[in-house]
Amino acid sequence: MHVDIITLFPDAMRAMLSYSICQRAQDKGLLSLGFHDLRTWSTNRWRRVDDYPYGGEAGMVMAVEPIARAIEELSSTHVYDEAIYTSPDGELFDQNIANELSLKKNLLILCGHYKGIDQRVRDHLITRELSIGNYVLSGGEPAAGIIVDAITRLIPGAIGDAESALSDSFQDGLLAPPVYTRPAEYNGWKVPDILLSGHAAKIAAWQEEQALERTKRLRPDLLDNKSLTKEQ
Ligand code: ADE
Repeated sequence: MHVDIITLFPDAMRAMLSYSICQRAQDKGLLSLGFHDLRTWSTNRWRRVDDYPYGGEAGMVMAVEPIARAIEELSSTHVYDEAIYTSPDGELFDQNIANELSLKKNLLILCGHYKGIDQRVRDHLITRELSIGNYVLSGGEPAAGIIVDAITRLIPGAIGDAESALSDSFQDGLLAPPVYTRPAEYNGWKVPDILLSGHAAKIAAWQEEQALERTKRLRPDLLDNKSLTKEQ
């Protein structure tokens, strides 16, 4: 998969995605990332990419021209399956969207800033707007980092143990069951006996029961979503 990211902070974006699974996926050739400074496409002598909003409100708006030039130039190198804009107004990014995007070949992500981007970019150049939550960030970079990270771990081969991405929380609509490692007892705190039993089927049943119990207790909203999905 190839992802081009248009940003005002390419170094910060690169740092965000240059460790752990994202770096390993790049080393293995499963993921390639392009970090593009939007100012490269500014024709302004001060490399500005924003301007005052029509209508006179406070704040600045990212202008259409540099963004359009950036997308046009990058589109000559890759055919994008989606041109994503990270914005608090967008569709709420979740595991289903991560799964869907992990199957794509080429993605473009535009990180927003200031008051937002000129609406014409959203109307004509962006195919999908994604939000990572109901709060406002100073810029779209952390959101882009989160989206790329969540997608990357789903690319086949990105994670050593293929099972481990499939057993992530949310992957089956439930939170993951609790996990333990050695020692079997620490400070009087014991690992549940069932996990030490060596009985694979009973362990699997216990894990399923725990996943359901944890989801009911901590995130009952996920169970509502699950039944909605099933009815469709
Ligand atoms: N940019 C600012 N806030 C954001 C959010 N919540 N999600 C995605 N991009 C954003």
